[in-house]
Amino acid sequence: MKITKLKINTESQKYSILIGSKLISKFHKICEVNLIKFKKCLIIIDSNVPKKLVLDLKKNLKNKETFLLFFKASEKNKNQKSIDNILKILLSKNFSRQDCLITVGGGITGDVGGFAASIFKRGLQFVNIPTTLLSQVDSSVGGKTGINSSYGKNLIGNFYQPKLVICDIGFLKSLSKREIICGYAEILKHSLIADKKFFNYLYKNVSNILKLKSPFINKAIFTSCYIKKRVVEKDEKEKSLRKILNFGHTFAHAYEASLNYSKKLNHGEAVILGIISALKFSIEERIINFKDYQRIISHIDSSRLTKKIKKYFSKKDTKKILSFMIKDKKNNTDEINLILLKKIGSPIIDKFYDKNKLKYFIKKELVD
Ligand SMILES: NC(=O)c1ccc[n+]([C@@H]2O[C@H](COP(=O)([O-])OP(=O)(O)OC[C@H]3O[C@@H](n4cnc5c(N)ncnc54)[C@H](O)[C@@H]3O)[C@@H](O)[C@H]2O)c1
Repeated sequence: MKITKLKINTESQKYSILIGSKLISKFHKICEVNLIKFKKCLIIIDSNVPKKLVLDLKKNLKNKETFLLFFKASEKNKNQKSIDNILKILLSKNFSRQDCLITVGGGITGDVGGFAASIFKRGLQFVNIPTTLLSQVDSSVGGKTGINSSYGKNLIGNFYQPKLVICDIGFLKSLSKREIICGYAEILKHSLIADKKFFNYLYKNVSNILKLKSPFINKAIFTSCYIKKRVVEKDEKEKSLRKILNFGHTFAHAYEASLNYSKKLNHGEAVILGIISALKFSIEERIINFKDYQRIISHIDSSRLTKKIKKYFSKKDTKKILSFMIKDKKNNTDEINLILLKKIGSPIIDKFYDKNKLKYFIKKELVD
């Protein structure tokens, strides 16, 4: 299987995303070809990544001074303490900016490692090797890094682009079905906000994609990264257009937060529920046409991507869900900004809704 290369060209950095199989065993060569030079590196590895792949990577770096840090990825550990721990290693081993921090893990490991790299001596070289489907199709593209605080998710962070991203499909084989669906949620979102043809492809091939079959999974990862690339190249710092990537997410974050980020509902499942809510709201507001609405809902239902919202919440949760939607960091006022869909491939970003209107909508969702 060939390696696909996608070049990202943001104001702050140009870099490549490589997509393919068995890339890890060619890591040294890949760095050379992409002009990434360093003498010393710290590799932060999600402790659930199969050890065989980690050994392949380490073997490949035998001419470098290499330090390994195994990281237990969880939203709880996506915190300042983990950053302090990483910085302590970098400082005690006398890393310079010309050395390199490499993350091997999902979105949590990438966000934490990327943030540490961004603040170490005002910017250490950073290579991201995403190992979950979600991180390969979404979080590794675009340079958002950060940690959680007791005030909420991802509230402390930076925009910091990596020098290189390597999406090795081999990592995905050890993921659970739920984790694969989590990544698929973001793939689906990308198709809905940007590319009807891609949505039709997903509609037809979802089962092969969820089974990680080539070339379906490769195309899904590539097209997803390509859509996100086009958005972040135009608006790296989320001043306007980049907000379309939040389609479904204002609802999703509120659902996750209302359940206290319980394992009962993971991020991707919340995103699917959030997409459904945004679509239902789009239809109530007469923004989307019924045919497109039905086609998307039928895809979600027939692919069994999530359970019904009422399996997680009841009418009494309305106030809590709404309060988290108001707190969302993308909202500036008491009015709530929602990204809605006009048709498949066509989002709208500038709609603000009164909180009472949303309260009524959520309540109805949880009762009907
Ligand atoms: N920076 C961004 O633009 C951006 C975008 C979307 C999401 N995110 C963040 O990403 C995080 C979610 O990412 P995620 O879904 O990858 O979660 P994650 O990093 O928690 O990984 C999910 C689970 O899979 C395990 N895992 C990772 N790789 C594995 C492998 N190859 N085999 C088996 N298990 C493996 C992890 O240990 C973890 O238990 C959230 O914190 C979210 O805020 C960031």
